Amino acid sequence: MNKKRDRARRLIRILPALLCLVGFMLLPAGCGTASQPSQKPESPDTNAMTTASETVTPTPEPESEASTPAPSPSGTPTPSPTAKPRPEMSATPEPVRKDTRLPFSRGVNLGNCLEAPLEGAWGLVIQDEWMTAIQGAGFDHIRLPVKWSAYAQKEAPFAIDEKILERVDHVIETALAADLGVVLNVHHYDEMATDPEAHADRLAAIWAQLAEHYKNQPETVAFELMNEPNGVADPVWPKMQETLHAQVRATDPDRWLCITNGSWSSAGRLSTLTLSETILADERTFATFHFYEPFSFTHQNASWVAGSDAWAGTKWNGNTMQQRQITNLFDQVSGWSARNGDIPVLMGEFGAYSAADPISRQRWTEFCAREAERRGFAWTYWEFASGFGIYGKNSKQFDTALLKALIP
Ligand code: BGC
Repeated sequence: MNKKRDRARRLIRILPALLCLVGFMLLPAGCGTASQPSQKPESPDTNAMTTASETVTPTPEPESEASTPAPSPSGTPTPSPTAKPRPEMSATPEPVRKDTRLPFSRGVNLGNCLEAPLEGAWGLVIQDEWMTAIQGAGFDHIRLPVKWSAYAQKEAPFAIDEKILERVDHVIETALAADLGVVLNVHHYDEMATDPEAHADRLAAIWAQLAEHYKNQPETVAFELMNEPNGVADPVWPKMQETLHAQVRATDPDRWLCITNGSWSSAGRLSTLTLSETILADERTFATFHFYEPFSFTHQNASWVAGSDAWAGTKWNGNTMQQRQITNLFDQVSGWSARNGDIPVLMGEFGAYSAADPISRQRWTEFCAREAERRGFAWTYWEFASGFGIYGKNSKQFDTALLKALIP
């Protein structure tokens, strides 16, 4: 993997020279501008996510207690996870990629907590004890969605409230003490979907402050620039992302930094994301996609998705056609990663809402987790103790069947 990426980087570097040479041989004037590596265009994704997601309003899913142990799913293939190989030393004097592997692989989202307008507003407050429970269950990281836009000034300099920084510091500290990595993101910056340009400076200021504030954290604290860019942001997001990436890099040169595509980070649209040379050559950049396919199964009866009551009772049996719908999309993601120097991939959200029947949920969850691992994707389940949850906030018990689907 590392060699491939090194080769890609080397090719990018010498490509302008090669093109110049060819141009020089064919045209008397030669050439003077560098050329980007070409990307094979992918056909657009026509899966349910795209259309159904457009009806999503970002409201919390109702809470549910994690259910009591249920029978394990049967007939689900359980391929063993294959991790990406450790990087090899390069014989060239070029900078060697420090690590082609993310410092975490299996995690869970602390959803419905800090991405609510105020922690607790959606029924959940992060508990310190969760961290040891999560680690003890076999996870190695959490994703921490935070609605920073609710805590930053509306006008320049867009200062972030000290209190939220203290709260997030505490959550990160507790997670690290439990040996969990943290993917810290910007979540539910809703105005970005309707008027991204008007909010670009504010988002940049938020990231400038976060980069500075967390610059001394260990490498297991990663940044994710934006949760599920969508709407009006779609066409402008890639450029905006490049700017944010460069800005964080100026302060935090080694931090693992997560990038994504528009269209709600859907798997089928990741391949439409063209990476700049800078991002392509950056050794600590990884990509994320979210996975909720088929949407009519994972979001049946979800109050925040208009019309989802019509999907009630949708099952996931794991037949060949259903499996292929998932593996085809995962393969598209793998192919895109391979064409981009084997950039590491995190399936940063996937899950089925608790309105689905438990056996289908377990089957689907297990299938997605194993298929992701088979392709070397890290994953973070959506989410811990709410409507998609694996843990009862009152019972303080895991849904053992769902947990086993994630971590066999
Ligand atoms: C959103 C949640 C939603 C989940 C599943 C997440 O990205 O932040 O509000 O429940 O996706 O739809």
